[in-house]
Amino acid sequence: MSKSALPRHVAIIMDGNGRWAQQRGLPRLVGHEQGSKSIRACVEGAMEAGVEFLTLYAFSSENWKRPAPEVEGLMRLLERFLDDKLKEMLKEGVRLQAIGRISELPPICQRKLAEAIAATAANTRLTVVLALSYSGRVEIVDAIKGIVREAREGKLTGEEITPEFFSDRLYTKGIPDPDLLIRTSGEMRVSNFLLWQLSYTEIHVTPKLWPDFGKEDFLAALADYAGRNRRFGGI
Ligand code: FPP
Repeated sequence: MSKSALPRHVAIIMDGNGRWAQQRGLPRLVGHEQGSKSIRACVEGAMEAGVEFLTLYAFSSENWKRPAPEVEGLMRLLERFLDDKLKEMLKEGVRLQAIGRISELPPICQRKLAEAIAATAANTRLTVVLALSYSGRVEIVDAIKGIVREAREGKLTGEEITPEFFSDRLYTKGIPDPDLLIRTSGEMRVSNFLLWQLSYTEIHVTPKLWPDFGKEDFLAALADYAGRNRRFGGI
């Protein structure tokens, strides 16, 4: 695959865990557990192909509204994910980062997340970004609040506010915009994910439910991307 045919940054809306479980008469949490395994498959696919950034929508701000046992189960899965995967991330050269209102997570998750982020900070092969307690609108509002603070402190005139300046105030500062967004389970929605960053992102929607999404599916999405003609508003 030529360099421009390979996305530098792939973002994924991992949807359909609940339906996967429901179809089998299993509790929703079994679907989420199975979904954790698809993460591993995509990380492998990304490393194999040479993708630099992989951003995963693991828990949205809206997900707090789910029944408490499901929320608690997802937080336990996050803890387990961090416990189980740290060694592998270190071995494989994967750097972990997180975006979202991380301070809203249970303290134990915050601690394990901070430890894994610090331990993997020097890795360069692939950056995995977990979106946790994440909302695209809240991210934009948080950026504006920061800019207003800078202005109040007299650090800004307003002239310097450009799209690039604004991008640097988002949780994703330093991370390139996604080239490819994958959404599973067939829904044609962006669902409050990376609203600013997805401006020119190519979108690949597959009917497969997230727990059924494997490495081959990830590589097929990369091949679909390679056939796209990106014009960025030009001709
Ligand atoms: C969407 O399925 C998925 C989520 C809300 C959570 C994603 C979580 C994982 C893949 C596993 C946990 C991993 C970590 C790192 C925490 P859904 O429940 O909305 O599915 P449905 O639309 O079929 O109900």
